[in-house]
Amino acid sequence: MSLLIKNGRIITADADQVADIFIEGETVKAIGKDLSVKASKEIDASGKLVFPGGIDPHVHLDMPFMGTFSSDNYETGTRAALFGGTTMVIDFILQKQGNSLQAALDEWRGRSNGNCVGDYSFHMAVTDFNDNTKKEIKGLIENEGITSFKTFMAYKGALMIDDRQMIGLMEEVKKCGGLINVHATNGDMIDYLVAKHRAEGKLSPLYHYLSQPEITEAEASERFTDMTFYTGCPGYIVHLTCEGALNAVRNATKRNQKVFVETCIQYLIIDASLYQREDGAKWVMSPPLREKKDQETLWAGINQGLVQVVATDHCPFKWEQKLMGKDDFSKIPNGHPAIENRMELLYSEGVNKGRITLNKYVEVACTNPAKIFGMFPRKGTIAVGSDADIVIFDPGEKHTISAKTHHMNVDYSGYEGWELTGKVKTVLLRGKVAIENNHCKIDRGYGKFIKRNKVADKI
Ligand code: URP
Ligand code: ZN
Ligand code: ZN
Repeated sequence: MSLLIKNGRIITADADQVADIFIEGETVKAIGKDLSVKASKEIDASGKLVFPGGIDPHVHLDMPFMGTFSSDNYETGTRAALFGGTTMVIDFILQKQGNSLQAALDEWRGRSNGNCVGDYSFHMAVTDFNDNTKKEIKGLIENEGITSFKTFMAYKGALMIDDRQMIGLMEEVKKCGGLINVHATNGDMIDYLVAKHRAEGKLSPLYHYLSQPEITEAEASERFTDMTFYTGCPGYIVHLTCEGALNAVRNATKRNQKVFVETCIQYLIIDASLYQREDGAKWVMSPPLREKKDQETLWAGINQGLVQVVATDHCPFKWEQKLMGKDDFSKIPNGHPAIENRMELLYSEGVNKGRITLNKYVEVACTNPAKIFGMFPRKGTIAVGSDADIVIFDPGEKHTISAKTHHMNVDYSGYEGWELTGKVKTVLLRGKVAIENNHCKIDRGYGKFIKRNKVADKI
């Protein structure tokens, strides 16, 4: 099977050119003006933008969490991602405290194997670091291609590890060539504030927000940054939301330190005023949405190179699941759906509104996740030899987000009624047309587990 994409405006992190792309099998074979090749299928991309497939390195599919499971499974979640121009996701395995990492990997494989439509990988969340866990790190990196290890400084009593475990894990991960990613908020402070608000009968979603003030994130981000400085382990802060936390990373640059930072689309465009609404549970996530001043900081952080990745932390729950916490904010399953919306929201709110350039868009949504997590240049760019994961995008098409038309397995949208400019039209995954004319053309099982290389400490 061969394919020729004609006359598209091809955008990568560092180039912008009108040219043709010739694809044979799963990879790109040639890029150039007026290529004289014969292909079994031709796509005219005149007037369209052509991006590398998006990579969302922070999603939670079919995940057991807070007494329920996130509502998108590997099939619905990766298919919805493709509709939105994301061809690969990195999901999180959660070790059960007291069990091995291998047991967790087996459990996650049981749910994901053969079920993905799009490509995927896993981060391994270490929730119980001990002498046995320590012995498993090398094998995960070298044999399984799982090279990043997630830690939680919050969710006390469930997922949180203490600083002693964190330091031990960092030393081992550094030795084996991996990277630590972290949910950086102060779990003890949050635990105290949640208990205090509950004792005072303050139980609405607003108190979820008020139990996780900015200082809880700034403090933990600084502590994590200090620990990575001390151990020399490459570090990546997931879902960073606010000025205080980004300033911790900024300060670390003064001692020549580099910590990678991911924010998520929601923290750039929606704010904490939503918690005042009757349906505020839709946006109960951790960390919570912040203030307008934090959005300004994050957009600036992207342009300053302090924030390298825009992900989603897609962790959807249906309204009925959110109602588990109707009388108590601490029982609302944390997370919101966005896997399908990230690329179009970031284009519309970022590029179209002049906040970021086209190259920066590709850098934070496609290229940097591939570089940081050990998949570049196979993924994250359009180049000869790379996987033909390609998005053809109409920059002028207007459309409206709605739960009635989205493909995620959730009965509301956190962005209902948002009018966007720019739409994903055609998506290729490893040379196959995955999305065309608003239909998914590939099946469950096409999505491949991508073994990752050792991570980068520089990009
Ligand atoms: O609210 C969130 N973020 N849910 C998913 C788990 C996590 O902390 O990433
Ligand atoms: Zn988190
Ligand atoms: Zn998450």
